[in-house]
Amino acid sequence: MPDIIKMVAKNLNFYYGRFKALQDINLTINERQVTALIGPSGCGKSTFLRCLNRMNDLIPGTRVEGELTLDGENVYAQSLDVVELRRRVGMVFQKPNPFPKTIFENVAYGLRVGGMRDNTYISQQVEKSLKGAALFDEVKDRIHDSALGLSGGQQQRLCIARALAIEPEVLLMDEPASALDPIATQKIEELIHELKRNFTIIIVTHSMQQAARVSDRTAFFYMGKLIEVDATETIFTRPSQKQTEDYITGRFG
Ligand SMILES: Nc1ncnc2c1ncn2[C@@H]1O[C@H](COP(=O)(O)OP(=O)(O)OP(=O)(O)O)[C@@H](O)[C@H]1O
Ligand SMILES: [Mg+2]
Repeated sequence: MPDIIKMVAKNLNFYYGRFKALQDINLTINERQVTALIGPSGCGKSTFLRCLNRMNDLIPGTRVEGELTLDGENVYAQSLDVVELRRRVGMVFQKPNPFPKTIFENVAYGLRVGGMRDNTYISQQVEKSLKGAALFDEVKDRIHDSALGLSGGQQQRLCIARALAIEPEVLLMDEPASALDPIATQKIEELIHELKRNFTIIIVTHSMQQAARVSDRTAFFYMGKLIEVDATETIFTRPSQKQTEDYITGRFG
């Protein structure tokens, strides 16, 4: 299948006050693929991820230059509805952050906030999302119990289900497995593999093995710059830049 372009960053700069955290980023994100963002701590991975659904807008004193598009539309256009953007571009954070509510209500949350009143639809969507996040079988008998009683790995899958319930097109994941044990991590990785049939996924990870296992393309960031992006296999076997090679072979970072 030919690559279909979902999002494009063109000459994107990003500032926290006077500090330029992203410099001239040019990156294309393909639809229904997994793109991994790798690079040493502080290189700008989370900052870039948050540009994609304008989460950085919530941080005072920040500024964006350049262009970012979703299906060809400018994400930073004045006329763009940011709430709608964040519905289309969902996010899962590093630490599972379930609300102190039931499992059901956690997943239903986005639908209710969006004004959905049809309880039959909400129930169907909750079940579908929990299935999509490979959690349903583990929780189906306690769906009205508190989400805080779930294990860390289950909580993270719940947060993924919560993101899926509002049917986003793009899913941003910032180190979604870093707080999890190897078995829970494997479940998340298997899930990512399933999810890319329907979603475009961008994942930040510190684990090279994880990037190699889950992603189609890998982008290497260093000190606010995108050094190199290519097919994951190419990045890990014959990167074109020395800095990429040094990083993936563990010489720094
Ligand atoms: N809210 C903020 N205010 C000011 N500077 C920030 C803010 N958030 C991040 N930065 C700075 O921007 C740069 C990039 O940070 P970012 O969090 O994007 O890095 P990262 O690649 O995600 O790192 P890590 O792997 O440690 O999560 C860093 O120098 C960081 O200190
Ligand atoms: Mg980060």
